[in-house]
Amino acid sequence: MNIAIVGTGYVGLVSGACFADTGASVTCVDVDTEKIERIKRGEIPIYEPGLDELVLKNVKAGRLRFTTSLESVLNDQQIVFSAVGTPPDEDGSADLKYVLQVAKTIGQHLNKYMVVVTKSTVPVGTAKLVRQTIQTELDKRQTDIKFDVASNPEFLKEGNAIKDFMSPDRVVVGVESEMAKEMLTRLYKPFLINNFRVIFMDIPSAEMTKYAANSMLATRISFMNDIANLCERVGADVNMVRAGIGSDTRIGRKFLYAGCGYGGSCFPKDVKALIKTADGMGYSMEVLKAVERVNDAQKHVVFNKLAIAFAKEGLENKTVALWGLSFKPETDDMRESTALVTIDLLKQAGCKIKVYDPVAMTECKRRIGDTVIYARDLYDAVNDADALLLLTEWNEFRLPNWEIVSKVMNKKLLIDGRNIFEKKELESYGFEYHSIGR
Ligand code: UDX
Repeated sequence: MNIAIVGTGYVGLVSGACFADTGASVTCVDVDTEKIERIKRGEIPIYEPGLDELVLKNVKAGRLRFTTSLESVLNDQQIVFSAVGTPPDEDGSADLKYVLQVAKTIGQHLNKYMVVVTKSTVPVGTAKLVRQTIQTELDKRQTDIKFDVASNPEFLKEGNAIKDFMSPDRVVVGVESEMAKEMLTRLYKPFLINNFRVIFMDIPSAEMTKYAANSMLATRISFMNDIANLCERVGADVNMVRAGIGSDTRIGRKFLYAGCGYGGSCFPKDVKALIKTADGMGYSMEVLKAVERVNDAQKHVVFNKLAIAFAKEGLENKTVALWGLSFKPETDDMRESTALVTIDLLKQAGCKIKVYDPVAMTECKRRIGDTVIYARDLYDAVNDADALLLLTEWNEFRLPNWEIVSKVMNKKLLIDGRNIFEKKELESYGFEYHSIGR
């Protein structure tokens, strides 16, 4: 099967490599010449465990190739996926200019039947716009070539992307024709050999499913953060509460971790976009509006705890160490990360900031330059610090040598934004320890 994937971002590159690994012949397309040149040299622009090996292996096998020209490869394909970005507009709605540009190019050059699948997270109704855009171009060319559109939202998580793609919980596909359904069934068969879980539905429902899934997960997190904040006030422990409610199979154990807020490229953007879509329809998503408010506030919680601890002396000129910059472990992605919010607050308070992250240091430099001190490792970060803030639960932070940390710190204060340490243990090293909801 010949497929093209337009957009070599997270979703595009992972999908391309994984489809190629099942034997499909895949062409990845991106307008960014420099990016394509880098990938061709074997430099993968994102940090994702296992991705560089998978790309390299499939390039060598001749099943995966890269180009900047969609028109030159278009008519060799049976399916074209569009996985280009949909950055939020100033008002929070998804900007469709890249999605529609791809559709236009397809319309201008299509010479045979093809299925055009949207994989980017796009608002309900986008597939219709894609169809119209392609059709308009075909009409201009006075040709009656047939094509189908489909919607195939992607649910992979950063840091676990390949595993998520290779053995998905389910694949959601919105289609309008039997032909498109058959072709996508063939393409996805290898991933789901033992348990075929492609859920076919109409296109608007598929488009809606992605937003509903991310919004539900974001809701669970904000709900647990709300519960955690109340736990602190009534003397309960949110970890105990999580264990207590998670064992109810109707609730389930996952995505119930209280912390210093969710970030990333999906939850904040998708929650905003769904609120916006609803507003545009004259309907107000009250639950989601609260989810967003709670999350924005939760990104201030670690700083607020620090400010309380320093209420008497004040924070000015204090040295504060940050462990973790990415929005979650196993990625260098800092989009909407709590670290960025915390760094801003610390700067406003006049603190000296020392940061360490196992992989996101370069990304942090790119974003905020030398406005903070970049430490060599986790121990260098806490050297002479008046407080340590844990913001991302990387594995290498879980069992540090507290002997060393407590010796080199100026003041033994630790605020654990992800609840990965135990109060008793930290207190035995003389730390003042605060966490979320415990
Ligand atoms: C998410 C969805 O999980 C994925 O299905 C979708 O395709 C894209 O968005 P991702 O953004 O990669 O994936 O990260 P995820 O692992 O879901 O974490 C998102 C954020 O929620 C992180 O900031 C994480 O720290 C936070 N989180 C997650 C919590 O605070 N508590 C939890 O219990 C789980």
